[in-house]
Amino acid sequence: MFIGRAPEFDAIDRALAQALGGNPSHILILGERGIGKTSLLNVAGLFARGGYTWNDRKHNFLVARISLNENICLVDFAINLRNSIQREIDKENPGVASLKKAWDFLSRFEAAGIAYKHEESIKNNAQIIQEFAFSLVDTIKSLKDSAQKDGLVILIDEADKASLDLSLGSSLKSITETLAAEDCNNILFVVTGLPGTRDVLTKSHESSLRLFQEFNLGPLLKDETITVIESGLQEAKKISGKETQITDEAKDLIYVFSEGYPHFVQQIGYSVFEVDEDGLIDKGDVNTGVFAERGAIKLIGDRYYAKFFYKDISVESQREILSIMAEKWNDWITKKEIKEKFSNKEKTLDNGVRSLIEKGIIIPREGFKGQYRLQWASFAFWIKNHRKTGRQ
Ligand SMILES: Nc1ncnc2c1ncn2[C@@H]1O[C@H](COP(=O)(O)OP(=O)(O)OP(=O)(O)O)[C@@H](O)[C@H]1O
Ligand SMILES: [Mg+2]
Repeated sequence: MFIGRAPEFDAIDRALAQALGGNPSHILILGERGIGKTSLLNVAGLFARGGYTWNDRKHNFLVARISLNENICLVDFAINLRNSIQREIDKENPGVASLKKAWDFLSRFEAAGIAYKHEESIKNNAQIIQEFAFSLVDTIKSLKDSAQKDGLVILIDEADKASLDLSLGSSLKSITETLAAEDCNNILFVVTGLPGTRDVLTKSHESSLRLFQEFNLGPLLKDETITVIESGLQEAKKISGKETQITDEAKDLIYVFSEGYPHFVQQIGYSVFEVDEDGLIDKGDVNTGVFAERGAIKLIGDRYYAKFFYKDISVESQREILSIMAEKWNDWITKKEIKEKFSNKEKTLDNGVRSLIEKGIIIPREGFKGQYRLQWASFAFWIKNHRKTGRQ
């Protein structure tokens, strides 16, 4: 079940048509944690390969997909991409010749250790990028000739995690420039990540953002959230055979608690469904499902917030900053307001805030210096309770 995101799908549809016409316009999709980036990327992949129809539109691309992390160097990036392309070809067109020849330059890295691949990625960066792009050119030729594909879509998830060494922005820029020079214009990149991806890209090349048309995913709208809840109940009925009704008030309340964040809608939906005993979900069921001992907030907290609060933060002063911020729920708070309650030095506050922003735990207000907020009201709720009860 996938709901909403019509503007993004329109853009992806257009971009695919442009890639088919030889004039690709790459896409960057940004959004906070759990907002639905990976889900969108998956459905976009399905759409591009013809497994999903949008507004009566269907496409015929080969779709490769990679997910980045801080250990991936340029050579790994190329190896993972080649493997993904090969896997897709094997699945869909087993008759097409292997890509081994097209990606021959990777053979010298195949048996090499991590250190060698990383060293070479930096030392021979320009050359590897050239060979990488040429391999893509050969791949496209083979895809069009023998697999009758319209082109290649490369999905890159978790781009915010790209290491500085990978130089994602300049690597993509050089690759796309080489592709254009080789008149190989049927490749579309769709990149997703946390909002910090913008910094990752600009740090590696100032103008690399210009490669993309950018989309910022927001929470689902109220009617979309309600559609997710209703479809969830229908799916549950298919699986369990049990019919469950839900009052309008309960739907509204799920929207209020979830704030339209898809991962919260999902979890709250499950928790509330579990709590209900009489086949009619009402306001009381929602409250119990959300706040009970093993309720949605506790489960979401265990999965996301505890990680932010403990694993990602090693200094108590940063937890103190979050606790002060939580008093305003997820509203904007100024540094001055935090400072008034903060028990440490101003420098510690500055460093703490910077680190929390870098980790994607708090959000800086664009255009307003020294203003921040927590991502979710439920995170604030969890912090408040957690500090009170001291549970970990
Ligand atoms: N448009 C949508 N309709 C219905 N459910 C959705 C939608 N988008 C996301 N979800 C659900 O919300 C949850 C989180 O989505 P997803 O993993 O795609 O988010 P994300 O932005 O990639 O998160 P992260 O930042 O942690 O990688 C999943 O359970 C997914 O099924
Ligand atoms: Mg994701």
